[in-house]
Amino acid sequence: MKGLVLAGGAGTRLRPLTATSAKQLVPIANKPILFYGLEDLAQAGIADVGMIVGDTAPEVEEAVGDGSRFGLKVTYIHQSEPLGLAHCVLIARDYLGDDDFVMYLGDNLLRHGVSRFVASFEEERRVASVKGERGPSAQILLARVPDPQRFGVAELGEAGEVVRLVEKPVEPPSDLALVGVYLFDASIHEAVASIRPSARGELEITDAIQWLIDHGHRVKSQVVEGYWKDLGEREALLEGNRLVLEDLQPRNDGIVDANSRIEGRVVIEAGARILNSVVRGPAIIGERTIVEDSYIGPFTSIYHDCEIVRSEIDYSVIMARTKIVDAGRVVESLIGKDVTIGRHDGRPRALRLMVGDNSRVDLV
Ligand code: TTP
Repeated sequence: MKGLVLAGGAGTRLRPLTATSAKQLVPIANKPILFYGLEDLAQAGIADVGMIVGDTAPEVEEAVGDGSRFGLKVTYIHQSEPLGLAHCVLIARDYLGDDDFVMYLGDNLLRHGVSRFVASFEEERRVASVKGERGPSAQILLARVPDPQRFGVAELGEAGEVVRLVEKPVEPPSDLALVGVYLFDASIHEAVASIRPSARGELEITDAIQWLIDHGHRVKSQVVEGYWKDLGEREALLEGNRLVLEDLQPRNDGIVDANSRIEGRVVIEAGARILNSVVRGPAIIGERTIVEDSYIGPFTSIYHDCEIVRSEIDYSVIMARTKIVDAGRVVESLIGKDVTIGRHDGRPRALRLMVGDNSRVDLV
């Protein structure tokens, strides 16, 4: 069994962050989103991973390298344009050969990983082959959601088999949304080669799976346990950060001065300094970051080499080398790398921000 991780795409919903950076590398609790998926694959016993990369290939390749850090062998597959999830399978044909594979969207986060999911597919295919029967050709993972209109949705038959998949239905046949992890055998190659681009010009994986069903293949489904998040939008990303921070094990590898207070579960990474400040967890403060005369509230991740001075930050993700000085109260914000936020007068106000890399916000 191989892995196919999708780390290309346009990331339009996270602009302007994605104008300069890969969304899969946005840190969640100070670890790139993509690394959670790679760790899940390694844990499921997968050793070989093909990774689809697009415009942000250099950044992704630098972060992941040859994959050995995760116990994986990563092979990069370049996609010239984001032409759809099924297009990714199409261009990975030579890499995948006739092997079964797990396709994992690089911006998805699953609390309990994919081991159980992979094991049940392998077991069912093994049992079928012992009996001389044809096992399932694909297995999809589903999650119950309150707003299925926003997702690909599955309609299940009486035996729990998938009978139909619909993209963003106006009248959803169920509340079961498709999670960004799929298992396929080699039949998917004929499917992706047979379908046509959708109205939005992409080769849709839902159409390819529907093609399998319509051509007599069995498609199994399983409902996820624990949380699942597609981190393609700011709100979801902040929520994902909250969920991961909920499981945080506190640790202090930095310096906290006598005038500061650390409350609840907080990780302070090596070289970080907390000076005359309050940090209320769950929160993580990155390597060499300075927090001075400030308040850091719950569900906040501040990455490496940042400076937070005379400011309050709550429920936010702050990326590398960003400076926030005299900013008053910053809430529900996702702030890119190398950003400077400062104030020119002393009046405090709440801020809600979506700020890209290399930006500058002056509050006057
Ligand atoms: P999506 O979130 O569906 O698409 P996107 O990344 O282009 O974002 P947006 O909708 O905001 O424009 O993609 C899911 C994952 O698959 C994500 O990690 C990007 C990746 N992907 C590719 O690698 N190639 C593609 O052609 C597409 C469509 C997505």
